[in-house]
Amino acid sequence: MKNNKQLEFWRGEFGDLYIGRNTPEDVVYPSRVEMWKKILSVFPDLPSSILEVGSNIGNNLKILDQLLDVEIYALEPNAKARETLKKNIEITEDKIFNGSAKDLPIDSSKIDLVFTSGVLIHIAPEDLQSSCAEIYRVSRRYILSIEYFNPTPIQIPYRGHDGVLFKRDFGSFWIENFPNLKVIDYGFFWKPQTGLDNLTWWLFQKP
Ligand SMILES: C[S@@+](CC[C@H](N)C(=O)[O-])C[C@H]1O[C@@H](n2cnc3c(N)ncnc32)[C@H](O)[C@@H]1O
Repeated sequence: MKNNKQLEFWRGEFGDLYIGRNTPEDVVYPSRVEMWKKILSVFPDLPSSILEVGSNIGNNLKILDQLLDVEIYALEPNAKARETLKKNIEITEDKIFNGSAKDLPIDSSKIDLVFTSGVLIHIAPEDLQSSCAEIYRVSRRYILSIEYFNPTPIQIPYRGHDGVLFKRDFGSFWIENFPNLKVIDYGFFWKPQTGLDNLTWWLFQKP
């Protein structure tokens, strides 16, 4: 499997079609609002700037923009998703980036909170450390990951495709690779009660 297979997958037809499945109705919008209220409730101080790495069309950023008085930044490799994002939320062109987690075109310590939601799971294991290092570099204070969990690293087929979905204990990965991170909180959004897709989240603070 080539290094950028995953990125090309998301930049191509699969990524274009994903946009159609990622409408607010399909992502159980009210549950996402509740998810964000829960996560925001544990922040020691609310962030005043937020970057979502792999924002797709901005479903999370739209909610955050409504809940907070915050400067929003988005990084998304799929061109159609970036175009839709511009229609979904109020965001200026200079705050939308094309790129990948592995190479964030943003100054170090520029943004209070840098987060991913369902994105680390699509990064090949060999690219995960460099991608997390970029997230760590750009974050001024907080790092949040909302991802699928498995106690040990596994690769599983994703809608008939191999080599594009990887689950693991991302929380442990963060603290093993960046041991000065402080765990603020973590949790689980259980599908039967929330409608969300059994999402595990971890919030870390930089020293
Ligand atoms: C499953 S979707 C999640 C979208 C959004 N974060 C959400 O929670 O609705 C994964 C998104 O990450 C983007 N993506 C995939 N690989 C990426 C990478 N290496 N760096 C940044 N974004 C990536 C995809 O283009 C896609 O928009």
